[in-house]
Amino acid sequence: MGPAAASDLRRYNAATAHLEPPFAVLDLAAMRANAASMTRRAAGKPIRLASKSVRCRAVISQVLAMDGFRGIMAYTLPEALWLAGSGASGDILVAYPTADRDALARLTGDPAAAAAITVMVDCAEHLDMIEKAIAGTAPSSPVRVCIDIDTSYIALGGRLRIGARRSPVRTPAEAAALATDIVSRPGLRLAGLMAYEGQIAGVGDRPAGRPLYGQAIRFMQRRSGAELAIRRAAIVAAVRAVAPLEFVNGGGTGSVEKTTTEAAITEIGAGSGLYQPGLFDSYRGFSGRPAALFALPVVRRPGPGVVTALGGGYLASGAANAARLPRPFLPAGLRLDKDEGAGEVQTPLLGRAADGLRIGDRVWLRHAKAGELCERFAELHLIDGEAVVEVVPTYRGEGQAFA
Ligand SMILES: Cc1ncc(COP(=O)(O)O)c(C=O)c1O
Repeated sequence: MGPAAASDLRRYNAATAHLEPPFAVLDLAAMRANAASMTRRAAGKPIRLASKSVRCRAVISQVLAMDGFRGIMAYTLPEALWLAGSGASGDILVAYPTADRDALARLTGDPAAAAAITVMVDCAEHLDMIEKAIAGTAPSSPVRVCIDIDTSYIALGGRLRIGARRSPVRTPAEAAALATDIVSRPGLRLAGLMAYEGQIAGVGDRPAGRPLYGQAIRFMQRRSGAELAIRRAAIVAAVRAVAPLEFVNGGGTGSVEKTTTEAAITEIGAGSGLYQPGLFDSYRGFSGRPAALFALPVVRRPGPGVVTALGGGYLASGAANAARLPRPFLPAGLRLDKDEGAGEVQTPLLGRAADGLRIGDRVWLRHAKAGELCERFAELHLIDGEAVVEVVPTYRGEGQAFA
């Protein structure tokens, strides 16, 4: 174990000696350094904070108070209403479409929320649904909507498609047609455009131990980035010819410095880089400091070179593979057992470092993704330097589960 890791381990153990694991912590110095690195990479364009990657209101407010962050990118409309109702600062973009009629009715019934929140649309059916939800009510202001654009990379005459299956809107003509439809409906107002390139922003371009795969990813990302920059500019121009746009959002933690160079982009949407979870270790463009960790107690010593910890089976969402597993972090030199992975109630940890651990000691792990950690713990213990300075509830701790 290197001296930095050993000193972090001592610091985390000392700061949390009064706690019984399992528990989760956030190292505030690491998070602040990560935030500063993200805003540096954004080179002057604001970062809209992806709340799904944070899932803790106290942390959201701390980050929004920092220079370089502006507005929230929420993941559901009920979440956005909850955040707006509790005084969250700035406007809130709900980055995924909603089919929640009750929430739409609540949105239009609340002038402050309707002024602050923008919902995502990508087809006439979404517009119809919003209009139906507001029919019969007397909305004080129109519902703000944002058009979502398909950013996926399509090659080989359509036989190769890389990217998330999200919006059906792909071309300038399709985007302009949807914009025209929006402006023709008095209950709606076009506020912005979003085009998130997950195949670049969310895929590490230097996967550990897989150099050839890394080369293929970099090739795909170069091609996709070049194609998207041209198409995104054309789409923005076509939509601006129909109606003004307050914002054009793109990018994510893995692409901040690239996305920000496009003139058509006015803001970046990002959040994961603050916690720096395992899946974000494999990018060439930046390296963050692991900030969100969880501690598990060692409860068994089955034999030499192995200890068993309580809990730990906190798998990340997405296509199932080993990268979705949590990563043993401290003490350095522990790994998961390939046959058992991270278990429902027990997680064996292998490696020489296991022999230095006793029952009742703690091991520190990282989640593969960012905000999902907060679905496992009711609280985050905020560590500053050598001490826990505050304990704050996660969304789960506030009894909130949105998706
Ligand atoms: C629409 C959108 N924008 C941005 C992001 C980037 O978020 P993060 O920086 O947490 O990866 C995501 C992540 O999935 C997203 O769905």
